[in-house]
Formats: sequence, structure tokens, C-alpha cells
Amino acid sequence: MADNNADLTTSADVRKYLSNTPFASHTISVLAGGSANFTYRIHLNTPFEGKETFVFKYAAPYVAASGGTMALPTERQKFEVESLRLVREMHADDDVIAVPAVRLFDEEAHVMIIDDCGADTRTLKQLVIDEALPQPVAEEIGAAIGRFLGRIHAWNKNGSFDMGIFHNNEVGKMISPLVTYGRLISTLSGRDNIATLADPVLDVPEENLDVISKLAEARSHEIGSTSEAFTHGDFWPGNIMVSLRRESEGGVPTLEKLYVLDWELAKAGLRGLDIGQFCAEMRLLQRFYPSRQKEASTIVRSFLSAYRGGSGPDEALARVAIAHVGAHLVAWTPRVRWGDREETRKTVAEGVELLVGGAEGTHAWLGGSLVGHLIM
Ligand SMILES: Nc1ncnc2c1ncn2[C@@H]1O[C@H](COP(=O)(O)OP(=O)(O)O)[C@@H](O)[C@H]1O
Ligand SMILES: [Mg+2]
Repeated sequence: MADNNADLTTSADVRKYLSNTPFASHTISVLAGGSANFTYRIHLNTPFEGKETFVFKYAAPYVAASGGTMALPTERQKFEVESLRLVREMHADDDVIAVPAVRLFDEEAHVMIIDDCGADTRTLKQLVIDEALPQPVAEEIGAAIGRFLGRIHAWNKNGSFDMGIFHNNEVGKMISPLVTYGRLISTLSGRDNIATLADPVLDVPEENLDVISKLAEARSHEIGSTSEAFTHGDFWPGNIMVSLRRESEGGVPTLEKLYVLDWELAKAGLRGLDIGQFCAEMRLLQRFYPSRQKEASTIVRSFLSAYRGGSGPDEALARVAIAHVGAHLVAWTPRVRWGDREETRKTVAEGVELLVGGAEGTHAWLGGSLVGHLIM
């Protein structure tokens, strides 16, 4: 279908690639919001299976947002396609939460075409920023996401589940610790030259740095060697699309559908990392959008309760999750433009506390923490 070296970084390239396929399109628009890949919405000349628009994702051999400077193996796309297929096979499609169907996978050209969640969907992060959600909607969103994640994390408890290629997602195993645990100490020490954390650097006691350093090393090792569960690997509200329904314009919304996207880092991994990444981003929304405190806590509470379902307390899981909230706050807050210097520094300091608490905090501390619902 395509020449193997096709470079699909512009709409014009994509149009040409699609021209002799059932997906030939008259309009191709760039979708922002991701960073690793080139993602487009394509508007077909002739509907395909009744649908006029699809999403086209091209995995270049580098991180798209890096402009080519940061290499990233294209094999990652195979893990995304396999995950989307697996979830659709294992998970009821009529559930309020689902994943888009894969319509085409061109492994040589590193292209996949998937169903469009719709131009009226927004990422959960954007939705929480944009609107004050009614409590029942926030609850339903948190619960659906928690139930979904709890289910996929439990797949391998069933003897017939085969982790298959997900044992070997080497890109995922490399990236997950690299972007979090691998840069905790360099972020805190000033070595990474992050302006908001310099002049002066944060005052973190030496013994805390020691605890964090040991935890980072141990956790990075575990990420590389665990087969605890099938995990998403990049489970943040920017990879979850939400569609709301309104009876009339400006009317009270209800939840229509949720979609979980972006499965390139799916792998045999640690459950606490998916839980922790999701909760960390909710915590960031709370801190930097104070008017959304309530929505974010409702979502986290419902998420954790539904994740746990009827199962008993899991202290080990809660420790991994809360430490990962800490790691995410330290590594990401100062690298993503969340807000001003003071709040950024306070949030990183909170991250330090959570990392140390995850390693050494008492049971009572853990119970009162953001992920307390996992054990209380
Ligand atoms: N199937 C889809 N339907 C609607 N929007 C999508 C779809 N897939 C991706 N997007 C949009 O494109 C953005 C980037 O896609 P994503 O798969 O997360 O790419 P990346 O791997 O670069 O992060 C998403 O945040 C979302 O806004
Ligand atoms: Mg993404």
C-alpha cells in the first residue's frame, strides 16, 4: 500500500498515502494533545462501514514533539494495535467505556487507522479544566474508569490469559522508568537545570534523597522484570476521551461514553503505576485548578472504590501507587506548564513527601493519603 520509507509528518503526505485506499480523504486535520506520534482526523471521500471520519496515527522512528531529536522505536505501534484488539476481544463493547476499533494496521509504514471517538469528545483532563461537572457525572466517570482498569489488571489471574508479546515491550520497559524514577534525583538536585526548581534548589533533607534514590532504583528494576499484570503503561486523563450528552444546549450533561486511547506502552507491568499516574494527574488538576477540587476528589474516590471492587485491602499496591503519585509530581510538574513557580515548587515538595511516605509511611498515613481507599 505504501512505500516503506513514507514520511507521514504532514497532511499532504497522509493524503497521498491514503489516495488509493478505501480511506482516501478530502480533509486531513492534525490532532493535537499527544506528543509521541503524528495523529490526524481524516474525512473520507466515501464512507467506510458507514463512517465518514477516522483517526490516522503515524509512528515515526522518533518522538514527534522532539522534531526528530529523540529516537523512539516504531515497534511501539504493534503493542498499541495488539492492545486495542485484545481489549475489544475481552471487554464488552456496549460498556460505557471502550477502546476504538482498529481498521487498518500497516506495519511497514507504521500507520494505524482507528475509529474516531468523535469531534465532540474531549480528553478527561480538558473536560475537568473546562467544566464544573455535576457530582453524579464525576462519580460515573471515576467508577467506569476504575472498573475498567481493575478488570484489565485482573486478566492474568485467569489461567487461560496469555500475556504474549506484552512480556517483551522493551520500549515500554525503557520509557516508563526513564520519564519518572530515572530523573527524580537529577530533578531535585538541580542537575536537570529546571528554572522553577533553581535559585534556590528545594530543600530536601539528605536522608529523604537517600530514601528516594533507593526506591527509584528498586522500582526501575521491578518495572523491567515484573509480570504482575497486563497494564496500560500511560494511564493518564490525557489518554481518556469523554463524550457527554445534553438534552439541550447549556443543559445538564450526562455521561455518554469513555474511550481509553494510546496503548503503545502496554506491557506486563506494575498495577500501581497505572493507578498512581491517573491519581497524580487528578491531584495536579486539584492543585492548579482549585475550583475543580471537588470534581477531582470525587473522580479519584469513585475510581479507587470501583478499581478495588469487592476485594480486600492491598497495602503493597497502595504503597506502589502513592509513591508513583509522588514520582509523577516530582518528574512531571516542573516539565509541563501547569502553573506558577511557587505552586510548582510546593507540588514537587508534596511529591517528595509521597515518595518517602510510600517507602516508609505508617499504615495510618497510607490510609489518609490520596490512595487511602485501596486499604480502608
Ligand atoms: N480515536 C480517536 N478519536 C478522537 N480523538 C483521538 C483519537 N485518537 C487520538 N485522538 C486525539 O489525539 C490525541 C493524541 O493521540 P494519542 O493516541 O494519545 O497519541 P500520542 O501517542 O502521540 O500521545 C489524543 O489526546 C486525542 O485528543
Ligand atoms: Mg497520548
